Amino acid sequence: MEVETAIRSRRTHKAFRPLPLPRDQVDQLLELARWAPNHNLTNPWRFRVLGPRALERLKLAAGPESAPKLDRAPTLVVCSCVVSGDPVQDEEDLHATACAAYIVLLAAHGRGLAGYWRTPEVLRTDAGRAAVGLGEGERFVSLIHLGEPVQERPAPARAPAPETATYLD
Ligand SMILES: Cc1cc2nc3c(=O)[nH]c(=O)nc-3n(C[C@H](O)[C@H](O)[C@H](O)COP(=O)(O)O)c2cc1C
Repeated sequence: MEVETAIRSRRTHKAFRPLPLPRDQVDQLLELARWAPNHNLTNPWRFRVLGPRALERLKLAAGPESAPKLDRAPTLVVCSCVVSGDPVQDEEDLHATACAAYIVLLAAHGRGLAGYWRTPEVLRTDAGRAAVGLGEGERFVSLIHLGEPVQERPAPARAPAPETATYLD
């Protein structure tokens, strides 16, 4: 898929077919993620692909009301950012990790797959973080949902570029 088409047509999907992505396909997406720009080449992103036991632990931590939402996608990847303690580096590393997460979504879309950047409350709790092995030295960024799409998604309205861009003299 041509890159501009991919950028415009990628959508957030909340419904997926049940088949998990094969491991080699996940590997390909995560290999692409490492090409994200990152200052000083800190490679700050970390990805954890959830297996069935990790998913059960996370659902337990989420509680009965929120747990069913964790079953929406057949493949879930926790994306986090390593924290160094240096405020400038941490800020830049967080941005770089967001770029890496976006690469995963864009590359999945380019392969005809569906994706969803989700930030569920459970991954802001100690129990949820422990369920997926997030230590104090990592900041949660995204629970990336991946799978085959069920349907096309309409594009939400976007602010026109001139509203968010200024040319300074
Ligand atoms: C940092 C970040 C966090 C997000 N967290 C959520 C979320 O928790 N729940 C949700 O429904 N969408 C979440 N989204 C997805 C946005 O809602 C979505 O990108 C937006 O509605 C635009 O739709 P599109 O991705 O189809 O263009 C998140 C996106 C980003 C970048």
